[in-house]
Amino acid sequence: MSNRRDFLRHAALAGGALALGRIPEGAGPLRTFAPLPSQGNQSAAPRSLRLLILGGTGFIGPHQVQYAKDRGHEVTIFNRGRSAPGMFSGVEELTGDRAAGELDALRGRRWDAVIDNSAARADAPYWVRDSASLLRDQADQYLFISTRSVFRDLSQVPATVDAPVLTRETTSGWSEGDPYPYGLAKSLAESEALAAFGDRTTIVRPGLIVGPGDETDRFTYWPVRIERGGEILAPGDPERDRVQVIDVRDLCEWVVRLCEAQTFGTFMGIGPENGRSMAEFLYGIAGVTTTPLSWTWVPREFLAEHGVRPYQEMPVWRPPTEGFEGFARFDLSKEVAAGLTFRSLADTATATLEYHRSRPRARQAELRAGASPELEAQVLRAWHDSTS
Ligand SMILES: NC(=O)c1ccc[n+]([C@@H]2O[C@H](COP(=O)([O-])OP(=O)(O)OC[C@H]3O[C@@H](n4cnc5c(N)ncnc54)[C@H](OP(=O)(O)O)[C@@H]3O)[C@@H](O)[C@H]2O)c1
Repeated sequence: MSNRRDFLRHAALAGGALALGRIPEGAGPLRTFAPLPSQGNQSAAPRSLRLLILGGTGFIGPHQVQYAKDRGHEVTIFNRGRSAPGMFSGVEELTGDRAAGELDALRGRRWDAVIDNSAARADAPYWVRDSASLLRDQADQYLFISTRSVFRDLSQVPATVDAPVLTRETTSGWSEGDPYPYGLAKSLAESEALAAFGDRTTIVRPGLIVGPGDETDRFTYWPVRIERGGEILAPGDPERDRVQVIDVRDLCEWVVRLCEAQTFGTFMGIGPENGRSMAEFLYGIAGVTTTPLSWTWVPREFLAEHGVRPYQEMPVWRPPTEGFEGFARFDLSKEVAAGLTFRSLADTATATLEYHRSRPRARQAELRAGASPELEAQVLRAWHDSTS
């Protein structure tokens, strides 16, 4: 079982490698591993699997690798070998560049299940076509990590995983020959997995993945901002606007259990059931901090006029505008029946803050998401001026 000491060692190794110039800056985001103890289900699995994880060293891969190891599985990872070579002991590392079709290392092997994390960009459909067609006779299950962005219409409340998805014909602003936008690329990649593995395919569509190891800072913005205290700009309607995200550990542990149970089909990867209002979300995070603070809720129209956008300056927040009414109102009974569990928001916020504090000071000072303190102060001033 890894622990906090291992995490700090990995972080130090990764930081040292960057300082020595061994990891090219352009090789993709440098990630560190945060193996906090798994919640429940840490005992050995009923049978040991041979698992192949495509993309085992980024944000989500290490959480899957650690949990799979904890459950007694034999793990092989496949990457270019740039992000964090040698991150794990006792894990087989195969290398190849999917963008260049370099899959030879996978030939002639046998796995119980493949988890595909790394097909995420415009060429995802080709990556999945190549890997899934190669592996169809070498593995019993192909689990593709997709995204909530595949949906083209989330107007139904509650939404379900069966809502309509983007196709070539229905993606507005895209024409044949253009690079695939993210949601369409993932939707087409899902089809490629299904074309090769048929009813042995599992598709998981996560919403925003949050927690330790996340370098996008979209969720991290909130616990860090709230811990700083003072007057906090809170966006939109505290009750009507809702949030469904997923703790990376909940997602990754469930994904491994879906392989153990050979569960096939298409699922959402978000939570909790029924979601949370923005107020529950922000006040829940505040519950793990002690700094004095106050909240100023500012309506979305005023924020828009002042250049404060959902999911951008105010990350995680997506008001239920037309076509997005169900965005954070998914019915998750199918997922819960298939074993998805949810940590508390307090656990996620605490682990995120702990991860954030373990980063170098300069990195802590430069969050990659959310409003700058200057913008926030400016908008709050303008709001008070307009209401006084
Ligand atoms: N973050 C979110 O909120 C969110 C939400 C919904 C869905 N998702 C999905 O979740 C997955 C995200 O995974 P992540 O955040 O863990 O990604 P990541 O941090 O970018 O990691 C990518 C992994 O893939 C490997 N890789 C990258 N390019 C490769 C290539 N050309 N050939 C072979 N391996 C390659 C990397 O290792 P090397 O660098 O060593 O190759 C690394 O292990 C994506 O599929 C994304 O669409 C994310």
